[in-house]
Amino acid sequence: MNIRLAAVCIVTMTALLVTASCGEPGAPPTPTAVPQVTGDALASSSSASDLSERARAGESAFNANCSVCHGVGAVGTRSGPPLTDGVYHPGHHGDPSFRSAVRNGVPQHHWGFGDMASVPGVSADEVESIICYVREVQRANGLFEGSDYSTVC
Ligand code: HEC
Repeated sequence: MNIRLAAVCIVTMTALLVTASCGEPGAPPTPTAVPQVTGDALASSSSASDLSERARAGESAFNANCSVCHGVGAVGTRSGPPLTDGVYHPGHHGDPSFRSAVRNGVPQHHWGFGDMASVPGVSADEVESIICYVREVQRANGLFEGSDYSTVC
């Protein structure tokens, strides 16, 4: 009886662990009908070999200044939205909105995360590289095609 109980307990704990590691408890709500980007897609699409040199520089700057809220791979966190979401398609949030977000911050308007404060200490050149990185990740995730929209790269 005790052994059976222990076995049930182990099975239950394993199931809980699997659920905990596979679930996305911090996934923010999506305001559009754009398909959710999966971790797998990003893991393969944003690998360094797929990124241009400029985007790789942008990735470093992004990870140093933005990923704390927007997540590694721009997939979002509990503190900020995924920039791979359809709402950040270049036809809706063009490059100027990125420059302005970094310089001036962003009042909360699309999500429930609160305002984004400006991010000091990021050079103009780094901002361009960051935009390049985000656009390449967006493209790799099918948000838009090659040169359909005018972006820094
Ligand atoms: C402290 C958290 C935080 C950090 C750090 C942060 N952001 Fe944000 N950002 C947010 C939040 C929250 C929003 C969403 C505001 C809304 O629309 O509700 C946002 C929105 C944006 C937007 C959308 C702008 C718009 O016009 O709607 C862009 C672009 C952006 N961030 C880029 C960046 C970049 C680039 C960096 C790094 C240089 C960065 N963010 C760092 C929290 C952050």
